Order: sequence, then structure tokens, then C-alpha cells
Amino acid sequence: MILLTGITGNNGSATADALLKRGVKFRALVRDKAKAAEWADKGVELAEGDLHDPDSVAAALEGCDRAVLILSNSQDQERLEKSFIETARASGVEHLVKLSSPEAVPGTTGLTPAAHLAVEDALKASGMQWTLVRPAFFMQNLAGTLPIVQQTGKLSMPLGNGTVALTDCADTGDFIAMVLTTGPEEHYGKTYDITGPDEVMNFHDIARVMGEVLGREVEYEDCDPAAYKEMIRPFLSSDWHSDAVAILFAQIADGTTPGVKTDTFQKMMGRPGTSFREFLQRITGQN
Ligand SMILES: NC(=O)c1ccc[n+]([C@@H]2O[C@H](COP(=O)([O-])OP(=O)(O)OC[C@H]3O[C@@H](n4cnc5c(N)ncnc54)[C@H](OP(=O)(O)O)[C@@H]3O)[C@@H](O)[C@H]2O)c1
Repeated sequence: MILLTGITGNNGSATADALLKRGVKFRALVRDKAKAAEWADKGVELAEGDLHDPDSVAAALEGCDRAVLILSNSQDQERLEKSFIETARASGVEHLVKLSSPEAVPGTTGLTPAAHLAVEDALKASGMQWTLVRPAFFMQNLAGTLPIVQQTGKLSMPLGNGTVALTDCADTGDFIAMVLTTGPEEHYGKTYDITGPDEVMNFHDIARVMGEVLGREVEYEDCDPAAYKEMIRPFLSSDWHSDAVAILFAQIADGTTPGVKTDTFQKMMGRPGTSFREFLQRITGQN
């Protein structure tokens, strides 16, 4: 049995969809069964639990030999993921697939990449088999800008001439489902940095593609990083989270973490990932 976390989020729901499409039975750990009711309707077994409560995690893991760890960013992420790993090991899980970040490299000063790196190290030392799936910058990060972009013709972010490779969370979910349903030995001890098929883009390129799909001229304009941080603060879970995003964006803007396109998704899946244009067409209902 597989235990999946994060099913009410972007990548967990995509993983669940991809597993269901493949006819794979799995269990999902959820904090609130009512919030996940649509998944129960689709035949997913739900186990109520919270990563803050290791006993609830142990109960959800009963009978599971595999687990997928997907968790939102917070100041608790490193501690909660390490605790999940320890509980999974003690519960007899043999293979754990973790959603991580390609920016989790030694020496990183980003708050979330540093947390991911520490968790990756803990997982590698756990004695369980492990696989790391590390998608580049989510296309979904840009979805929330579309209404204002449509209205004003401006994509306003503090990203300078920084570049990103983009990944659709739906592809991340499909990739994780592939890892769980092929091999699985060939995926043990593997780190997969995945991206979509687009060349690396700066935010002028991103604005241009948005404009082509929205059918209007769209221009990228650089905005003040401090003002941007204040603007996103109410939408994120904590001040820690808005600080973490601000640091990530500053490192994109100053070229510390340039986008890097990989062909891993294409090679392993035998198909290209979703392009940014296809993603925009899908979410704006144009296909
Ligand atoms: N943004 C990027 O470009 C990017 C790129 C690469 C990797 N990542 C990584 O992707 C991850 C986020 O993935 P996502 O976007 O799919 O997340 P998301 O949409 O924010 O969903 C987070 C999930 O975590 C669950 N969760 C939160 N706290 C929990 C707890 N204490 N116990 C159990 N479940 C809990 C949430 O459940 P509830 O519904 O109960 O809240 C939700 O299902 C982060 O680790 C991030 O670093 C991000």
C-alpha cells in the first residue's frame, strides 16, 4: 500500500489523479476528511492525520510499504518532514518518494531549499530506499497573476532579468506516479530534477507568452522587492513564508539560481512535459 501526503494541494492532487488513472490503489493522509471528500468519492482511502502528530502518521502508515511525502512550505517543514521519515522508517516503509527542490544544493542560503536539503540528507541516512523528485519553478506560481495581467497588460514582479525553467504540477504528479508504478528498484537512490519542454525563460519571455494566450499585449515590469513582499504577505501562511519567497525571488533576480532545463521528464516519461503555453491554454479554458 502507498501512503500519499498533500492530496489537497497542487502536486498531491496531481499525483492522486495520475495514480487513479493508472488504476493504483493508495491511501491519503489528510488533515480534514471533509476537505478531501471529492477524493473519497473517487475511491481513495482517506486517513485523518497531521504531520504535527506522529501517532496519527503511524496509524495512517499501517500496512504501507511505500510513501510519498509532499508538504507545504513553512518554518516547520524541515522538522515535520524529518519526523515523517522517522515514523515511516519505524513503521516498515521500504521506499519513500519525496518532493524536493532543484535549489536544494549545499551552500544554499534560501530558507526552503535549505530545509529540503536537510530533509534529503535525513532521508538518505534513514536506511529506507528513497527517490527525490525535484521540479523546477511551478507554472502554477504564475496562475494567480493572470486576472491582473489580463486587466492591466502588465506582469509586475521583482525578478529583474532572472531566468527560470518551468514545470506544470500535473507533470510532477504524473512523474511521481511513474516512479511508483515502474521498477521500482530502478528509481532507488535517484534524484530526478524535472522541467517542462520550454527553453529557460526570463520574465519578459513569460509576459510575451501570457500576452499571446490572453490575446493582448503584456509587458513585464520590475517592481520593488520590499513592496512585493508586503503585497504577498496576506496570501501566505506566515511571515516566514513571505520572507522565504522574497529570498527565492531575489536569488532568481540576481542570477544566483538561474533556470536550468533538463530532459529528464522527456527521457523517463517518453513524452514532453506541458509547455507554458499549453498550461495557460488549459487553465484559461482555451483547449
Ligand atoms: N513553488 C515552486 O516553484 C516549487 C518548486 C519545486 C518544489 N516546490 C515544493 O513543493 C512543495 C509544495 O507543494 P504543493 O505546491 O503541492 O503544496 P500545496 O499546494 O501548498 O499543498 C500542501 C499540502 O500539504 C498539506 N499539509 C500542510 N501541512 C500539513 C500537516 N501538518 N500535516 C499534513 N498535511 C499537511 C496540505 O493539506 P491541507 O489542505 O490540510 O492544508 C496540502 O495538501 C514545497 O515543499 C515546495 O518547496 C515548490
